[in-house]
Amino acid sequence: MKSRRRILVTSALPYANGPIHLGYALEAIQTDIWVRFQRLRGHECYYVCADDTHGTPIMLKAQADGITPEQLIANVNREHQRDLAGLCIGFDNFGSTHSAENRAVCERMYLELRSRGFIEQRSVRQAYDAQANMFLPDRYVRGNCPNCDSPNQYGDSCEVCGATYSPSDLKNPISTVSGTTPIERESEHFFFRLSAFEARLREWVGSGAVSQGVARKLAEWFTQGLKDWDISRDDPYFGFQIPDAPGKYFYVWFDAPIGYLGSFTQLCARTDLQFDDFFAPDSTAELHHFIGKDILYFHTLFWPAVLEGAQMRRPTAVHVHGFVTINGEKMSKSRGTFITARRYLDAFGPEYLRYYFAAKLGPGLDDLDLNLDEFVTRCNSDIVGKLVNIASRCAGFITKNFHGQLAPAVPDPQLLRDFAAAAHPVAADYESVDYAGAIRQIMALADRANQYIDQRKPWVLAKDPAQAQQVQLVCTQGLNMFRILMIYLQPVLPLMAAKANRFFGESPWAWADSQTALLGTHIEPYEALAIRLDPKSVAQLIDIQGADPAPKATLSTAKGVQSVSAAGAPAGAGKPAAAAADQISIDEFSRIDLRVAKILQAELIEGADKLLKLRVDLGELGERQVFAGIRSAYEPAALVGRLIVVVANLAPRKMRFGVSEGMILAAGPGAKDLFLLSPDSGAAPGMRVK
Ligand code: 2FM
Ligand code: ZN
Repeated sequence: MKSRRRILVTSALPYANGPIHLGYALEAIQTDIWVRFQRLRGHECYYVCADDTHGTPIMLKAQADGITPEQLIANVNREHQRDLAGLCIGFDNFGSTHSAENRAVCERMYLELRSRGFIEQRSVRQAYDAQANMFLPDRYVRGNCPNCDSPNQYGDSCEVCGATYSPSDLKNPISTVSGTTPIERESEHFFFRLSAFEARLREWVGSGAVSQGVARKLAEWFTQGLKDWDISRDDPYFGFQIPDAPGKYFYVWFDAPIGYLGSFTQLCARTDLQFDDFFAPDSTAELHHFIGKDILYFHTLFWPAVLEGAQMRRPTAVHVHGFVTINGEKMSKSRGTFITARRYLDAFGPEYLRYYFAAKLGPGLDDLDLNLDEFVTRCNSDIVGKLVNIASRCAGFITKNFHGQLAPAVPDPQLLRDFAAAAHPVAADYESVDYAGAIRQIMALADRANQYIDQRKPWVLAKDPAQAQQVQLVCTQGLNMFRILMIYLQPVLPLMAAKANRFFGESPWAWADSQTALLGTHIEPYEALAIRLDPKSVAQLIDIQGADPAPKATLSTAKGVQSVSAAGAPAGAGKPAAAAADQISIDEFSRIDLRVAKILQAELIEGADKLLKLRVDLGELGERQVFAGIRSAYEPAALVGRLIVVVANLAPRKMRFGVSEGMILAAGPGAKDLFLLSPDSGAAPGMRVK
C-alpha cells in the first residue's frame, strides 16, 4: 500500500429550503462509499459537509412560513442530518454555512482577495421591486420571452425555446415577489476578477484534477473567455455582510464552497486536526470534492481561483456525477417521482439503494436511471440471491455439525487466491470512482462462489456421515469466499459488512484482511443478513397525495399497535379532546419513564411477520431487548444507530420469542403506516423524555 494519505472529502452542500431527495442521495452515497473505501485502506480520510443556507429563496420562504430564516434553517438542518444518517452517510462534520466559523473564513478569504487586488467595485443595473423594496434575482422576474413570446418565462432563460437573456429583455415583466412591474435601479457591486486566473486554471485543469470529459467542457469555457464574477448582493438578503460595505452581502455562491472550510474548521476545533495542514498553499493533504454536473462552473473555475487568490491550496480533484432519473424521466413533483430520502427510507433499508446506485455508477457524467422494477430485481438477485446465499448455504452446517468451528484448511486454495487477487483491481475501480466496475468484479466472484457450492452440494454431503469432514471443508471454503466479498463490499454495504464481521468473530476489517483466510476459528450463529424486497413495496416510493397528515401517537407493542391520546389515555374514536373521565393526572403521567434509546441491533424473527427484535441502549439504564410490532414499516438494517423513545419502566413481558423489556413509541395507525418517534440530534441514550 502507498504511504498513509491525508484526505479531506466533501459533497456539495444541500440547499436548506427543501428535503434531501434521491438526486442528492446519489451524491452523498457516491462520496460516502469513496470515504469508507479510503478508510478501509488505512488512509486518514475526513468527510465534511453542511447545509447551504443563504440567499433570497430561503429568506422569502422563511417569510412565507412566518418564521425567521434562522428557524427555517435549523429545522431543515435537523431533517437533513436525520435523513442522511438514515442513508448511512458517515460525515465527520455536518455544519451550516450560517455559522460563526464560516463567517470568519469568508471574511478572511475576502480580505485576502481584496488586499491582493482581486476584488473590483462596479456599478450594476438590475431589476428592482419598488413595492417589496428589494433587488430581484433573475428567477424572480417573469414575463414573455423576448425570442418566442411564450408567456410566464423566467428572467434568465426561456423553458420553451431555450433562449438566454437578462430580465430587462423580458416583455411585460412582473416581479414574482409582489406582482408589480419591476423597475431598473443601479447599485454598486463587488466583482471577483476571475479573468486574472486563466493561466493558472488551465494549468490546474491539466494537472488531472478533473476527468477528460470535464476538461473538454472547461476548454469550451476558456474559449468563450472567463467573466469576472459578481460576489455581492444588496440588502435585504439572508447572508453575511461584506466587511466595510454596509448593506452589501456575500452572494450565496461565494460563501457556499467556503462552507466546506467552515465545516472543516468545526471539525478541527473538536479534534487535534490543524486547518493549515489541509489548506496552506503547500499542503500535501488531498482535497476531493464530489459534485453534480450542474455546478461544474462554480467548482472548477470560481472555486479553485478563489482558493488560489486567497493564497490557499487548490482541490486535488473534483469528481462529477450526472443526475438521477426515475423510470427514465426527470424527477418530477407533479408525477410524484420527486422521491425524498425520507419516503425511500420509510419503505426500504439504506443498503439496497446504496448497492443499486453503486452498481450503476461509473466515473462519467451520465445520468443514472433508478428503474423501480430493476431496483427490486437487482437487489434481490445480487444481494440476496448471490451474496447472502453463499453464507446462508454454508453457515448452518458449520454451526450445527461442527460447533461453529471452521476447518483448518480450504479444499481449493487456488480459488481463494483468485478471490484475494481481486483486491487490487477492485480497489483501482473504487479509487477511480468506477463503482460499477468494482461491483461487476465482485459479483462475478460471487457467481464463482455459488457455482462452487452448487457443485459440491454440502446439503447432500451432510446426509452421508462418511462425508462429514468434506462438509466442513466445503463450507469453510464457501464462507471464506463470502468473507472476502464482504470486505470488498464494506464501503457500499457498511451495516451488512459489520454484521458479517461480527458473525466471523473478527475485529473490524481492513482491506488487507482480504488477503488472509479464516481457518480453524469459531463463527457466531448465522443470522439473516438481508431479506428480499417485495416488488409491491416500490409503489410506496411514488408520492401518493393525501396521505394522512396527522397520524395519532401510538405505542408500538409486541401485540400490535395501541393508540393513545397525547395525554397518554386510550384515544376516544375521533374525539377532539379527552373527556374528563379519560384524563390522567400529571402524577400518573410522570410515572411513565420515557427515555431516549439507541437501537444497537434490529433483527427479523423467524415465524413472526409483524415483529422485530431490537436491542436498545438506554444509557445509564443499560441495554434492553424489546419486541416491537414495526416489521411492516421498517427494514431492520435501517434502524441500527437510530435514536428512539422507549417506555423504560414497563414491567417485562414474557412472549413467545423471549422477554420484552420495554415499549417503543411510534405514530400512525399501524402496519406500513408507522413512524418511530425520534429526538432531535444532540439527545443521548438514557436521557429522560419530559
Ligand atoms: O447546487 C446546490 O445544491 C448548491 N447548494 C451546492 C453548493 S455546493 C458548495 F459550493 F457549497
Ligand atoms: Zn422563448
